[in-house]
Amino acid sequence: MNTRKRLGILTSGGDCPGLNAVIRAVLAHAIETHGWEVVGIPYSSKGLMERQSIPLDIQTLKFKGIDTMLNTGGTILKSINKGYSGGDDDEIIAGYRDLGLDALIAIGGDGSLAILRSIANKGGWNLVGVPKTIDNDVPLTERSVGFDTAINTVSDALEKLNFTASSHDRVMVVEVMGRTAGHLALHAGVAGGADAILIPEIPSSIEKVCEKINRVREILDRHHAIVVVAEGAQTPAGESRTYTDALGEVRLRGIGEYVADQICHVSGKELESRVMVLGQIQRGGWPSVFDRLLATEFGKAAVDLVAQQQYDRMVAWQCGKVTSVSLGDVIAKGTVLVNPHDSLVQTARAIGIYVG
Ligand code: F6P
Repeated sequence: MNTRKRLGILTSGGDCPGLNAVIRAVLAHAIETHGWEVVGIPYSSKGLMERQSIPLDIQTLKFKGIDTMLNTGGTILKSINKGYSGGDDDEIIAGYRDLGLDALIAIGGDGSLAILRSIANKGGWNLVGVPKTIDNDVPLTERSVGFDTAINTVSDALEKLNFTASSHDRVMVVEVMGRTAGHLALHAGVAGGADAILIPEIPSSIEKVCEKINRVREILDRHHAIVVVAEGAQTPAGESRTYTDALGEVRLRGIGEYVADQICHVSGKELESRVMVLGQIQRGGWPSVFDRLLATEFGKAAVDLVAQQQYDRMVAWQCGKVTSVSLGDVIAKGTVLVNPHDSLVQTARAIGIYVG
């Protein structure tokens, strides 16, 4: 028997393209198939704490009759990249109850899903997770929403930078996101024709980067090069490059600058470099076709889990199919890092890319 439910949905953590496509699929399936009521919780746990909800129906999400949810980047529900946890847990728990939710679908990365799951367990909520992140580091799913679009965005940037690098015989050092996991740098670097890829998981040497660039000059008579470096990659001394922003938050940035300076230094000023920090553009734009498909499959599967009362689970992509896994298992595994023995690392090296 199918009882009418009041379903909440929220987006949490750093945004990425494809979030709206998940919301759209959840809405369509929950309303059209099940006749449930769906409310959006703005700003994730902050919205719960403040008892905020936005009634969602298929029509209100159309702009002049046009369904824009499938291909619009960002999130109509807004997000926060900082957990409201600790002392606020009781208020967040009470928010779920006061809003009269029967279940909650949370679209988040491993960090936000871990925070929400621990609150859900305390409060006895019915929680289903949907993985999203351009870092693609959520365990037990081969793909998270947003990753495919981000690797397209980064590899597109690398190709564009190739032309200007070539005109001036320069080395372009491109700093991309990836605090602890280098999946984005690795995938986009291979797809975008990088000469060297530096990631947090694999120690690297500037001497070897310079050797690679010099080999390209000698063998291919190509006088420009592209080096991709993940923001969380470390210096040979094992240090991360950070800065403190105006709010006093320590953020990763500067490893690109460091690598460019070192290339100049180690090459005896033979190699001229420029640095490009891609920043939040990597989370912007329209979702790729793959991300739209993944988001749609995930949104539908998340509603199915609610319908079957299979809570404390996360939808996942494994072997080309949508499935679901225990949220507890996801959290227990922690962040998925690049395995130095991964086939993409081996392939990159086999075709001459320096990967530490
Ligand atoms: O978690 C995703 C991520 O894109 C990280 O790779 C990056 O360090 C972080 O978000 C940046 O977040 P913010 O936009 O809050 O600075």
